[in-house]
Amino acid sequence: MSLKNTAGNWGSVARFFHWATALLIIGNGAYGLWMTGLSPSMKMINAYALHKSIGLTVLGLLLLRMAWRFSSRAPRALPMPRWQHIAAHAVHGFLYLLALAMPLSGWWANSLKGFPLQYFKQINLPSLGGVVNHQWADVVITAHLVIFWSLIALVVIHALAALKHHFIDRDATLKRMLPFARAHSEVSSIEDFK
Ligand code: HEM
Ligand code: HEM
Repeated sequence: MSLKNTAGNWGSVARFFHWATALLIIGNGAYGLWMTGLSPSMKMINAYALHKSIGLTVLGLLLLRMAWRFSSRAPRALPMPRWQHIAAHAVHGFLYLLALAMPLSGWWANSLKGFPLQYFKQINLPSLGGVVNHQWADVVITAHLVIFWSLIALVVIHALAALKHHFIDRDATLKRMLPFARAHSEVSSIEDFK
């Protein structure tokens, strides 16, 4: 499989970024929901610190992913009705937007709380600006949660669309994004992979 995207296929770098960010976002969201149920303790402080560091890793991966995406063309869209093509583009755009808003809103809330921020206890990161304001921090934390559930709703639609392409349309949309699917330069249907 080539590193770069080809006309018919996502390259291995794009696939790696897609699945690494997807798994980390879903995993860190579940971890965030769990940690907010902990009672104040060292365990809670460590859990929050880990949640923030994983979230910052997601931010870094997303920025790299977007830089890679804009420096190389996406594979050609497979044949589908025009409305589906437009809908897919819109959903992908919102997925990028919400995925970026996730760590940024967390970082902003942390800054408004006046908490220090360290990346895996090694690197000190600056505040995102603004003075300490607990009321605003609570608003931004609520936004952090709302953004998370909006993202999950969109991911469900996105994943159902991918499954529909695979099982009903029987085209190669899902297969060409899966991590270990065999490379093929001119894929248009699942049959091309066999
Ligand atoms: C992939 C990125 C992230 C995801 C999916 C995510 C998701 C979540 C979720 C679902 C919660 C539970 C919210 C609640 O129950 O109120 C949460 C809480 C929290 N997150 Fe994140 N988060 C991410 C990144 C970050 C980052 C980068 C920071 C800070 C630098 C951060 C700071 C916080 C804080 C402080 C809370 C606790 C809020 C409270 O005490 O109610 N998050 N996060
Ligand atoms: C947090 C979870 C996820 C996020 C944020 C996400 C985000 C994205 C984005 C932004 C794209 C467009 C790629 C680009 O143009 O650069 C994409 C493509 C894709 N995603 Fe996801 N995704 C997630 C989970 C999933 C899941 C669970 C599935 C399948 C069950 C999936 C299947 C696909 C497929 C097949 C494509 C390629 C679409 C095409 O070739 O037009 N994604 N995803």
